[in-house]
Amino acid sequence: RRADNSAAGDTEEFLSQYYLDDKDSFLTSDVGGPIEDQNSLSAGERGPTLLEDFIFRQKIQHFDHERVPERAVHARGAGAHGVFTSYADWSNITAASFLSKKDKETPMFVRFSTVAGSRGSADTARDVHGFATRFYTDEGNFDIVGNNIPVFFIQDAIQFPDLIHAVKPSGDNEIPQAATAHDSAWDFFSQQPSSLHTLVWAMAGHGLPRSFRNVDGFGVHTFRFVTDSGKSKLVKFHWKGLQGKASLVWEEAQQISGKNPDFLRQDLWDAIEAERFPEWELGVQIMDEDDQLRFGFDVLDPTKIVPEEYVPVTRLGKMTLNRNPKNYFAETEQIMFQPGHIVRGIDFSDDPLLQGRLFSYLDTQLNRHSGPNFEQLPINQPRVPIHNNNRDGAGQMFIPLNKDAYTPNTLNKGSPKQANQTVGNGFFTTPSRTGNGKLQRTRSSTFEDVWSQPRLFWNSLVKAEKQFVVDAMRFENSNVVSQVVRENVIIQLNRISNDLAKRVAEAIGVEAPAPDPSFYHDNTTANIGAFGQKLLKL
Ligand code: HEM
Repeated sequence: RRADNSAAGDTEEFLSQYYLDDKDSFLTSDVGGPIEDQNSLSAGERGPTLLEDFIFRQKIQHFDHERVPERAVHARGAGAHGVFTSYADWSNITAASFLSKKDKETPMFVRFSTVAGSRGSADTARDVHGFATRFYTDEGNFDIVGNNIPVFFIQDAIQFPDLIHAVKPSGDNEIPQAATAHDSAWDFFSQQPSSLHTLVWAMAGHGLPRSFRNVDGFGVHTFRFVTDSGKSKLVKFHWKGLQGKASLVWEEAQQISGKNPDFLRQDLWDAIEAERFPEWELGVQIMDEDDQLRFGFDVLDPTKIVPEEYVPVTRLGKMTLNRNPKNYFAETEQIMFQPGHIVRGIDFSDDPLLQGRLFSYLDTQLNRHSGPNFEQLPINQPRVPIHNNNRDGAGQMFIPLNKDAYTPNTLNKGSPKQANQTVGNGFFTTPSRTGNGKLQRTRSSTFEDVWSQPRLFWNSLVKAEKQFVVDAMRFENSNVVSQVVRENVIIQLNRISNDLAKRVAEAIGVEAPAPDPSFYHDNTTANIGAFGQKLLKL
């Protein structure tokens, strides 16, 4: 299979090599012999089962090992196959081959998820939602592992375990399931104000989407596009849904959790079965390398959006989800997305959250799959051949013919050559990034203001949306037992908006605070700099 390039292209055709069809078949053991598996082998009609019964052992042993660890976060999800179609030849901004031609098609797989609940939790818990996309491009796999909210709770990946321990169910009794409804979550949010922007988005309708078809997706971090000649631009990825956005209201979400905990999964499945194929446009906000601090905040700070009034979204192509998986475990569960799965023409930024993610996903997947060969699973295999000197490990699926797996190597003429010896410009085009400076364990001062953008978001809401946020905060905080935590929450909300703080405070037994003008700067983004001010006046 691996040697055959013709597998590139349609995902279904590729995956169908692995389909196991039991039609018109007889039962066999795992090693192929015909068997009957409804009675175990016993000594005498009413006697004990024999250890030698390999049919019994194989069946039960396989069952005993059916479960693998669920994802540490985003355990609950639903996936679908699709196709991406490029609107144009974008080689002026990126060498990524899937964007190199108008109408070029690339197979895709997408997984939507909630973050905090376990694999068996209800779909309609209030939560951030994962929006992870994979392009099986003709130059390897590219993943945008994003969310339906354009910002994130923390600015440095080293805080991720703290965030997740605070929002996951309580350590003693696993209560509650909902990420947003207990003391530790709100304690964390109120002590870590970088979380406020994402929190207000999650408390608005974005935390309770009506369906996976009604969410937008965001790459969150700043990435880079790089051309064949090495020129680079900063980009922010957006998935703009063509179904529009819609959310449940809280009362609906609660009822649905009881009546159909698979509500979001089922909606996506049913829509695709009925050939109402959901679509999203992939867009990018494109910025110059020297725009990094131009807007009055740092584009490396993942708690910030770049307002579309400053940098509009350029739409590059369209994704259509058009086929349901054949097997949940083999496809949706075993797909291993990584922010580090990039292709030529795309590069990272120094966002400290992204930098940490580049380690974490590979690391956790080694655990989830018990070894380094998970990229060989059908759903993870790139649709192009791979050649390298990686060897062995649990579950090796191939039979490498090159016995001299090392470089440099004069013995074996069959060894893979370094790509830059064979491809004109070198394999990965490298932008002119520099990295040096004194080692330090401090946050950049350009990441300091974490209140202005939640305020920008709050101010952008219409009256009904504001009430939605207020109601959500009232409900969630009414479940917080600690009075100190409730008071701390109000202190932080008051730094966003006195109106918001007062409306929440009155319902959760906290005294309404006086305005805290030292935090209010102007009414939009604080300190947006001369360039931003100019734009606002336009
Ligand atoms: C899984 C998004 C930050 C660690 C996921 C998934 C998504 C996602 C969508 C589910 C992927 C799937 O469907 O298989 C994000 C976004 C982040 C973020 C948008 C911030 C911008 C982080 C950070 C860490 C992290 C900072 C750790 C340092 C993980 C882990 C998984 C995961 C361990 C499970 C992966 C697996 O088992 O396959 N994330 N995440 N995430 N994320 Fe994140």
